[in-house]
Formats: sequence, structure tokens, C-alpha cells
Amino acid sequence: KDFQKSLVYLALVVFVSECVVALDRSSFPLGFQLGFSTSAYQVEGAAHEDGRGLSIWDTFCKIPGKIAGGGNGDVAADVYHRYKEDIQILKSLGTDVYRFSIGWPRIFPGGSRRHAEVNSKGVHYYNSLINELIDNGIEPIATIFHWDVPQVLEDEYGGFRSKKILHDFAEFAEFCFKAFGDRVKKWVTVNEPSIFATHGYLNGINAPGRCSPQYGNCTEGDSLREPYIVAHNLLLAHMHAVKIYRTKYQEKQKGNIGIALHSDWYMPYSSLQMDVDATQRVLDNSLGLYIDPIMFGDYPLSVKQLVRDRLPVFTEQESKDIKGSFDFIGMNYYVTAYVMDNSTAVPPPPTDTPSQEEPDNPEIPDTFAITTTVKDGVEIGPSEGGVGYWRSYPRGVKLLLDYIKTKYNNPPVYITEIGYVTLDNGQPLENILQDTDRIQFTQDSLNFTLQAIREGADIRGFLMWSYIDNFEWDSGYPFRLGLYYVNYTNNDLQRIPKASANWFREAMNPDWKNN
Ligand code: NOJ
Repeated sequence: KDFQKSLVYLALVVFVSECVVALDRSSFPLGFQLGFSTSAYQVEGAAHEDGRGLSIWDTFCKIPGKIAGGGNGDVAADVYHRYKEDIQILKSLGTDVYRFSIGWPRIFPGGSRRHAEVNSKGVHYYNSLINELIDNGIEPIATIFHWDVPQVLEDEYGGFRSKKILHDFAEFAEFCFKAFGDRVKKWVTVNEPSIFATHGYLNGINAPGRCSPQYGNCTEGDSLREPYIVAHNLLLAHMHAVKIYRTKYQEKQKGNIGIALHSDWYMPYSSLQMDVDATQRVLDNSLGLYIDPIMFGDYPLSVKQLVRDRLPVFTEQESKDIKGSFDFIGMNYYVTAYVMDNSTAVPPPPTDTPSQEEPDNPEIPDTFAITTTVKDGVEIGPSEGGVGYWRSYPRGVKLLLDYIKTKYNNPPVYITEIGYVTLDNGQPLENILQDTDRIQFTQDSLNFTLQAIREGADIRGFLMWSYIDNFEWDSGYPFRLGLYYVNYTNNDLQRIPKASANWFREAMNPDWKNN
């Protein structure tokens, strides 16, 4: 009997490992889309060309010490001038969809028509990009806001701290629908509101760099209140854009609209109830804070209980309007982290070395290589509470997708970002190009995504960040996430395929699209 059991077990193991090995395009449902994402400031460059205005990122990068390596997006990967070459790369990788963002200050150099006319050269650039994508069989997905608040609006009324931004954002969004909506059929209103709110206003590591002194190296800010105000205004901005699209454009243009949310997956550090509860609170505070209003019309109860009068309130009308304001949800996933309750948490040391402590959660597999201790940040803001470390854990994507399926009634989801970072410490190029860990991560996450789909999750696409290395905000150029290496050192910005690019091309067979 035991022998029979072993045989069945062996067959199962072989079957499962076969599934892992055999993954290719045909493994996914018909219509499932593969692709890549970028954002304007991180890849375009040409920051001072063709009439582009300044954004808060241009200003922030000038402050010494804010960006690792002292970089900025002035040149970045120069996609503004190289988009044709890059679209050939995308095509060769078998890309179905490409998500880019429309630079707000490139279209409205003064943030709104109140300050300056529309920049026709900016409009021309996005028209050319969109047309080139379509001519090469790649569907464009446009993000309207990927963090580049026009500096004029920051100076005028404090950017997203003020409700005045809602009018200006609506003007910009409507302009985009009008100018590009005949060809763009998928819109993302706002990218990662949680990261914009926390990194910009809680710990101040991103533009506009505001926080209370005890939370970071800032000169002005209020880490207890501003992140929630900004989060709230981002949600209202999203809501207005969706309303405009639905009432005036959707029927004619026949497109879809959604938002791109970021969430790590979180696991309790131990099986202690207090760590389990803390994990849910952190999840509510980082994902729920954004997705609950969109699904249910209000913030999660646990967030209301903790944040109390620091949390803005939706009016009855806003609550009605925001509920259901999506055709799809975009999810950006990178890492998984452990959560401890505040009272037991010890913040991790500011190094990249593994902690000596091991979690006692049996659910956490050995392959979860390095322990990240997450301080429960619910008391201090919409915080990921000290997740400062990038730990890849492909299974986390499935756990996140399963959670969304179960808790939010299985909405259509695009993985709008997923990726793997390698730190460029000046090691030899050959080493950087041999990115076997990225291959493993990609293969595993594709497999876990597939498993989630097979178990019923409505996942429509898998977009990696990204096809090329680019400007990784405060982490600058040393953080490389591309399948192609970008050579910044000799300024030729040559794109060189890493092993992962070759793997992707082969595994995800570009010819599939033509069959
Ligand atoms: C999230 C952001 O949307 C994007 O701007 C960033 O570069 C990637 N994740 C990688 O961190």
C-alpha cells in the first residue's frame, strides 16, 4: 500500500514539475496578455526638451543626497528619442501590451491651461509612440498619473495635499482621453497611490520629500496626516477621471479604465494571534486603504479605527461615485514581507544582511531566503511600516491574487507590474548580464499566476517592470530591473540583452501571436 502511495506521490511530483517546465504562451488562457510597463520620468529623458515643464521629481533630484548615486531623469534611458528602436525590442520579446505613462508636464508644462498652453510637441510625441506601438502589433496601455506632479501646481497649492488638484487632474485626464482615446483602449488613472503617499509624505524619500522630522530627513511635513490627505485626494482624482471617461468617452471609444495599486504580500512573523492581526492591519493599511473604497465605497474598518480623525471622510456622493469605479484592477507586486505586532517588533538593521532571527511560521518555506522584519506601521500612516528591503518571493503573487479574488469578488486583474531588482555595484558586465535569479523569479511568478488562474482568479495579463533598466526613483540607476541592460557609463545608452531577455523571448515565443 505504501509503495502504491509512493508511486502516486511520485507521479504527482513529476506532473507538477512538468507543469513548471512546460510553461509557455499556450499555458495561459486565450487573450491573456504579456507585456512590460514603464513611466515617463523613469525612461524618457529629454527632460528639458521640446517644451516639457518641470515636475516635482526634477526639483527633488536636485537636492543633494536624495538620489542614490546622485542621478536624475534628465536623460534616463532616452526613450523619448529611441522609442522606435525600443518598440522593436518589445516586439521581439513577444509583447502584447505596453504600459507607459503620459508625462503631465510634457503635455501641460504649467500643470493646467490656467498657466500655460498645451505643449503640442508633447502631444506629438505620445501620438507617435502610440502609433508606432499599434503599427507593430502592440496594444498601448496609458497611465495618466505616474507621480510627476507639475512643479507649478506644487508651488501654487501644494499639489496632492490640496483638493484644488482635482480640477487640474480632471482637465489633464480629459485631455488624454480626447487626444489619445481613439487608440488607447486601456487607461490606468493613477499608479501606486500608496507609494506616492507614503514615500512622498510619510518618510519623505520620494518627491516632494515631506515628512515629520522623526520619520525622515525632511524639512517640512506632517507624517501623521499628510499621507492620508494625499491618499484621499488621489482616490478622488481617480474617481473623477473614471466618471469623465464613463460619461463622455467610454461608449464611443469602447475602452476600459482602472487603477494600478501596489501591494506586497504580508505574512505573520509568528503564529501568535497578535502577529496575525497585525498582518491584516498592515494589509488593510497598504492595500485596503485604496481598494476598499473602489470596491465598497469606504475605507476598511480597521483603518478607520486606528487612524480616527486623521482619516479624511468620503461624502455620501463620493462614496457612491467611487464604489465600482473600475473596469479592471492593476496590481503591482514585487516582494513579500513578515509582519510583527508593534509591541514585539524590532525594526531591521539598516543593512542588507540577513537577520539572524528565524520566523516560527511553518507556512513560510525555507526558500524564503532572508528574513525581513516589518514593523507594524498602522499607527503612523498608510505605511508599509519599514519594508525597506526587496525580497523576492514568487509565491507571494499567488497569495495576493487569491486574496483579491476571495475578498473582492474576483475582479478582472492585470498584473501591471512585477519584477526583480539587481543592484549594480560596479560588478563586471558579464555578471550583470547573467541574471539567472531574474529568470527564476519570472518563471516562478508566471507559474504561480497560472495556478491562480486555474483556481479561478480572473487574471488578464502579466506586465513586467521592465524591458530595460531605468531610473529607479530614490534608488537611482544602480537598481536595475530590466531584461535589457542599459549602458549608462559611456553614454551610448546601448540596450544589451541579459540572459533573462533571451529566456523570455524563447519561453514566451513571439511567433505565438501570429499563429
Ligand atoms: C513601482 C513603480 O510603479 C515604478 O515606478 C517602479 O520603478 C517599480 N515599482 C520598481 O520599483
